[in-house]
Formats: sequence, C-alpha cells, structure tokens
Amino acid sequence: MAVLENTRLQEARAQTLALVEGISDADLERVHSPLMSPLVWDLGHIATFEDLWLAHRLGGLPLLRADLLEVYDAFETPRAKRGELPYLRREQATRYLHAVRERVERLRLGDEEPLAELVVRHERQHAETMLQTLALAALPDWCPGGVLAAAEEPATAAAAELAACSGLELIELPATSFPLGAAGGRFAYDNELAVHQVEVEAFAIGRVPVTNRDWLEFIEDGGYELAEWWSPQGWEWRLRENARRPLHWLEDGREQRLRGIEELDLERPVIHVCCHEADAFVRARGLRLPSEAEWELAATFDHSAGVKRAWPWGEHGPGAQEANLIESGNFAPLPVGALGAGAAPCGALGMIGEVWEWTASEFGGYPGFRANPYREYSEVFFGGGYRVLRGGSFATSALVATSTFRNWDLPSRRQIFAGLRVAADA
Ligand code: AVJ
Ligand code: FE
Repeated sequence: MAVLENTRLQEARAQTLALVEGISDADLERVHSPLMSPLVWDLGHIATFEDLWLAHRLGGLPLLRADLLEVYDAFETPRAKRGELPYLRREQATRYLHAVRERVERLRLGDEEPLAELVVRHERQHAETMLQTLALAALPDWCPGGVLAAAEEPATAAAAELAACSGLELIELPATSFPLGAAGGRFAYDNELAVHQVEVEAFAIGRVPVTNRDWLEFIEDGGYELAEWWSPQGWEWRLRENARRPLHWLEDGREQRLRGIEELDLERPVIHVCCHEADAFVRARGLRLPSEAEWELAATFDHSAGVKRAWPWGEHGPGAQEANLIESGNFAPLPVGALGAGAAPCGALGMIGEVWEWTASEFGGYPGFRANPYREYSEVFFGGGYRVLRGGSFATSALVATSTFRNWDLPSRRQIFAGLRVAADA
C-alpha cells in the first residue's frame, strides 16, 4: 500500500496560521473576554493535542513537552482561568506547533488514519473558537491571511434575485420513522453514535433561518420587555444581562461583524443570540424550536425515496455553492436563501453553514452511548444543562459541519455564531 501524506493535517494548520497571521503579539496574547482563552493558548493547546494523540499515543513517542500538559488541559482549566496560566507566548507556541508537526510527519500517517482525523477536526474546531474570540475582540482591521484570504468568490450573486425571505415561513413534514445519528463507514464522534430509529410526529420547520428583519420586528413588538414570552430562567438571564438586542448589534442600528462594523443587513440570519433569546422569539410567534431529531430529519430525509442523505443536497461534500462554511471565505452569513444548490429534500435552505441553530434538545448520549476515544470530548458535558446546536456556521470547516454533527453550549451563551430556525407542531 502506498504511503500517504496527511494532507488534511497540513490544510488545517495552514488555516489556523492564516487566522492569526495579521494579529499583533499583544492581541494574540491578551485575554479579550472572560469567556474565551487568549488566542495564543489555542495554538499551544492544538500542538499539545496533536502531540498527545499522534506522536505519543499512536506513534509511541514520549511527549515532546510533558511539562505543558496541564497548562493546555482544557478540562482542568476552564477558559476564565487560562489567562493566568504560564502558557507559551507567540514565538514559542509557533515553534512548538512546528516541532510537533515535524515529529508527526515522520510517522507518515495517511488521510485514513482515524486518530489523525480526530486531530484535524480538533484543530478545525479550535479555528472556529478562535474566530469567536476575534469577534468579541472586535479588532478594527482584522482580516484572514494566507489560504483563507485566497478563498473563492463569495456566492452572493444569486441573492440579488431572491425576494425577501422570512424565517417564519414554514415547511410541513409528515410523521415518519427516521434513523438519527451517524451511520458506520465514516468518521463520527462518540456522541453521534449509534444510529438509531426514532419516531417523529408530523411537524413544520422554517424554510430559512430567522433573519435580522424577523428579529427587529420581535424587538419592536416588545420582545425584550414582555416577560410572558420568556421562560423563567430566560427572563432571569434577560434581567441579569440587561439584554436588549443580539450581542453584536450596536445601539445605533449597525452591527459589529468579524470584518468590521457595518449596517445591519435585514436579509441575513440573526446571529449571536443565546438559547434563552431564541426560545423567547419562537414563543412570541406561537412557535417552538425544533428537536435535534426534527432538525436532522428536515436536513437529510428524502421522504419520496424513504432514505436519509449524507448531506442536505446529496452524497457529495459541501462546496461554496451548497454551504457557506469557512472554506468559502465569506466570514459572515450570507442573505438567507442565497445558496439554492444547498437545499434539503424538503426545500429548507442554509441548514449546513451560515449560523449554528439552537435546538430544543439537551445534550446527552444516544442510546447505548460509549465514550470514545476520550470522556472529556462529550460525556463529561452530559446532563450539565447544555443545549444542542446543529448545522455549523460560516466559521465551521466543511470537515466538521456534517449533518449529524452535534455541537453544544450553555443556553446563556451568545459568543458562538448561533441563530435559530423555527418549528411548530403540525
Ligand atoms: C464541540 C465546540 C463544544 O470547543 O468545547 C475542542 C470542541 N473539544 N476541544 C469545545 C472541542 C475539545 C468543543 N465543542
Ligand atoms: Fe480542544
């Protein structure tokens, strides 16, 4: 068998470095938000994870820097504490990344090595985490360098032809039995396994994500003033945070985006709302959030053929015409309905990429769950009040944002690139 280079590891690294290329040492090493690590911590953590899983556990080498295990252990040190750790500064962290990659390259792992895929996906997930940090940091002149600057033309051409869409437009789906979760044969995280049949009642789901226009109407209707639209915990959150608009909306009607401040675009999906806000929005309209089974069914189930697709549009992986992911290089959501080629069998648009979508489901294991390969990826979060988010965002890699991928966060969190899609009983 031919010895393959692991091109995916190389691509992931090029992406990571492109994100931080133009950032000053000070901005890289600073704590921008108590919710997030310093950016340079993510770099050292990425190196440690790769060294642990590939060089050490798979390759049998001693750890390159056993002394750093604790500093970069995400589970032992919550993000809020990471600013106090003796983490490596830019130059050392970059050298550490290179040194680990060099010893891993000598192992000559192919693209098919499952632990290499775990490491690649880990690095890509941290790229999104770093983009969340960058969004909070609101650096005035950040732009991606390297491979990401050279990304494809944004696929906005079709958007001009679209009439204004509302996230309140519903598509009806009949009751069906549906295989929830990842089927065998390709890489899956432990929390996506095993695929199991679930009975889903007839329901309706939003054709597109909820838009900024929809959200503005919610605000104008008193969305942030009327306690009856909020759950008790949600209202507590609303008062505690004195929340009046999505996190990155400015008081003057503009929006802080990754690439700078811009006029609020009413056609784009609302983003940086927490689950409490999403929940208040749907209740205000007499609707609800979809369960994750409903979400996955709407994204992938072809009712006429009675089969589940790998992706909403078919069996081939995402390209810039189907899904707005990090590889598209837009670094922002597109106007809803822009990518017609990415439609699900039911007609729903933007299910992969654009914005993560909050669901009504609490994060837990599927029936027969077994932690693999490490408990701290999923299992330690089960039962902790985390909500599942689906679909990926413009900052998620095509490698991560599969139709069975489950993300999770606390219902009060707004730093993630999350919006919502509505649902209703039939
Ligand atoms: C799946 C995004 C919730 O960032 O906590 C990164 C991914 N796990 N390193 C997280 C992860 C370990 C995880 N999320
Ligand atoms: Fe990590």
